[in-house]
Amino acid sequence: MGKVLVISGHPDLASSNANRVILKRLEDWSDQVEIRNLDALYPHFEIDIEAEQAAMLQAEIIVLQFPFHWYSVPALLKQWLDKTFSYNFAYGAQGDKLKGKHLVLSFTVGGPETSYTPLGYNHFPILELLKPLEQTAYLAGMNFLPPIFTHRMVYIPDVYNTLEAVEAGANEHAQRLVDQLDTLFNDPQLRIESFVREWFAQFDQLPDSSAYFLQHLSPQLELNMPEGSFHGHDGFQQWYTLARAQFKPGCQHQVEQLEIKAEDDAATRYRVELRVRLQAETHADSVFKGQPINLLVNEYWQLSMEAQAEGQANHITIHRYDVVPVTVD
Ligand SMILES: Cc1cc2nc3c(=O)[nH]c(=O)nc-3n(C[C@H](O)[C@H](O)[C@H](O)COP(=O)(O)O)c2cc1C
Repeated sequence: MGKVLVISGHPDLASSNANRVILKRLEDWSDQVEIRNLDALYPHFEIDIEAEQAAMLQAEIIVLQFPFHWYSVPALLKQWLDKTFSYNFAYGAQGDKLKGKHLVLSFTVGGPETSYTPLGYNHFPILELLKPLEQTAYLAGMNFLPPIFTHRMVYIPDVYNTLEAVEAGANEHAQRLVDQLDTLFNDPQLRIESFVREWFAQFDQLPDSSAYFLQHLSPQLELNMPEGSFHGHDGFQQWYTLARAQFKPGCQHQVEQLEIKAEDDAATRYRVELRVRLQAETHADSVFKGQPINLLVNEYWQLSMEAQAEGQANHITIHRYDVVPVTVD
């Protein structure tokens, strides 16, 4: 499931009117959201780099939630960025850890829209002011999504705005944000890629229980494996028992190619073509006689996606699963 990591860069949430409302809505929206409030975690700006990077590795969508401060992110969020987007994590020879993740900038702006025009007192359009952050995403190989921002979010009692107007603006902002996250969650490409990762991560462990797999397999499953053809849940169990007798847990499935094609106009059925490398230790009494294997296979899956409640990713059911070996090294 595509987990959403929200980094709150507000320096003092207790004093916030807008960001606090948006964060609350995100928290209520889905159990797939993890919110990290930097002001509470790091009041002295001492970022726990390891913890922050671990949280990012888990996520597929990263949301930076902040108030616009001097045409950029607040200093605390800049510190977070400077510390965590480090060499060999976000950039450099092995710096591919954020590659393919989606980045959403979600922020509140004090000035009105008209001020961010050539003749206005802020002169430059917001999107132009965001260029350093956009380029940061590109250097890290991230997918920079259209930013979500709302103007006139300052409330100065008796001087500027009303609290009701700011809260209404924040709620409307939060709705646009969760709508975008919902669309992303269920974008077929992203949803299936995420499912494929989860599926093979489970396979790598070869757990005793096949419950995880069965919940994603049709009772009418057609399973065509190098070991033979199997049908339905019983067939899968039979094959799974064989697989567990051959391979030791802790194997590694590496997806080298992945292609997804919609099979019907309603876009609920998909054909997925994969090339997967399996590296595994084998049991001494298996056909592999305890020799480690390095096996390249083509896989063809047919699957369907079923819509779930708000804030939940579509459920995936596999109907057909073919595995054809390519070579054995
Ligand atoms: C230090 C500081 C700098 C700010 N800089 C800007 C700015 O550059 N442009 C702007 O439109 N608003 C600016 N503001 C206004 C904030 O963006 C606004 O107060 C905030 O978005 C409101 O969110 P909150 O209620 O969650 O604190 C600034 C506010 C502070 C405190």
